[in-house]
Amino acid sequence: MITMRGFVKIFTYGCQMNDLDTQKMYSMLFKKGWHPTTDTSRADIIILNTCSVRQKAYEKAISNLGRLKKYKERKPSLIVAVMGCVAQQEGENIIKRLPYLDIVLGTHQLHKLPDIIDGESRCKRPIVDTTFDHHILSMDVIPLKRFLTPPHKAYINIMQGCNNFCSYCIVPYVRGREISRDYKQILDEIENLSKNGVKEVFLLGQNVNSYRGGITFPELLKRINDIDGVERIRFTTSHPKDMSDELIECFGKLDKLCNHIHLPFQSGSNSVLKAMNRNYTRQNYLRLIEKLKSVKADMAFSSDVMVGFPNETEQDFLQTMDLVNAVRFDNLYSFKYSPRPGTKALSMVDNVPIIEKQRRLSILQEKQRQIILSNNLARVGNVYDVIVDGISKRDPKAVYGRTTQNSIVNFKGSSEIIGSTVKVKIEKANPNSLTGELADGS
Ligand code: 5AD
Ligand code: SF4
Repeated sequence: MITMRGFVKIFTYGCQMNDLDTQKMYSMLFKKGWHPTTDTSRADIIILNTCSVRQKAYEKAISNLGRLKKYKERKPSLIVAVMGCVAQQEGENIIKRLPYLDIVLGTHQLHKLPDIIDGESRCKRPIVDTTFDHHILSMDVIPLKRFLTPPHKAYINIMQGCNNFCSYCIVPYVRGREISRDYKQILDEIENLSKNGVKEVFLLGQNVNSYRGGITFPELLKRINDIDGVERIRFTTSHPKDMSDELIECFGKLDKLCNHIHLPFQSGSNSVLKAMNRNYTRQNYLRLIEKLKSVKADMAFSSDVMVGFPNETEQDFLQTMDLVNAVRFDNLYSFKYSPRPGTKALSMVDNVPIIEKQRRLSILQEKQRQIILSNNLARVGNVYDVIVDGISKRDPKAVYGRTTQNSIVNFKGSSEIIGSTVKVKIEKANPNSLTGELADGS
């Protein structure tokens, strides 16, 4: 029995990689007696797990860190830590702006958090560590089952970092170069998870399809597909230039690999793609989509795109719109370009006026809204396998879950079916989800 020592609250921003890191932090601290709380004013440790991929995310982190000052004034023993990409980017500098911070740990140093907290009262503060290592020890930290939400779904780190240096992107600087986790550790983790009731595994990394942890990424998928108890395999994020034919064929051959891929395209214009250093053309991208559809007819696609990259003309933007119309993504994360420190694009003039970026973004998002609704309408009447994730937030008598295409489905049902796979007939299309009812035989 571990003695309870106090409460910890972690605020998470950014990507699924950060969601997983938060599960790991809660787990490591729980093992040392620090219990999670949702009540910030009760916390003895407050951690901000930050993102800096876009200027807006960075500013949010800084302003939320600023807000923590009042908690520290009220409770001087409070430990305030900043983790993730902003911590990596800023290092010592952040202490100059926010002198009440106790701990600043970079993206390779997460595993040190519990020991630093233990030693915190003895050590002189603040503690700043943004060293990059050759081996990222936190990739082998396994979250406790109690922190998996929902408990039948688990994120698994398979690699970290990026070697691509897209000209707009801060990730290679804040996450470091690509480091893959040994495949044996990954398979061990997934075997244990499946024994503990996990049905859906979500492989994570900044560039999963350039995984090199002793076997290739398609081989890793094959081995995971062979693990009893695993029903669904998903992964994110992938780079179009690393979508090998062997990987595409996995979607046809591996029955547990979901009918969905998140494949960021960033722009539909070849000249913009070149300036972004993406190493593919719109034609290559569209060919990939066609190949994926040819191995699995009902594949669903999601993507990331940005508007207003330096020198992006109206013609370039129309090429992006054209690609969006051609692929008909089920989900599209769209952003206005923002210059990031250290990147190559920082030296280009950010010459698309903000108002024009906003105009392009609004047009794109409106079109995308129509596409999603029409994709969803085409699903009405179909029956899908749905893994039930939880009770609907709007209706206590309804549950929600996801199809293999990653669509969210709401339907009448009780908490007893959470975690099970049921057949649901789609009755109605909504802007961002589907509504259905349990089909016969479930
Ligand atoms: N400006 C705007 N969007 C960006 N992204 C990455 N860097 C920038 C930037 N400088 C977007 C990309 C990426 C997603 C995670 O964030 O679309 O795929
Ligand atoms: Fe944000 Fe990228 Fe860091 Fe994820 S890896 S938190 S998206 S900057």
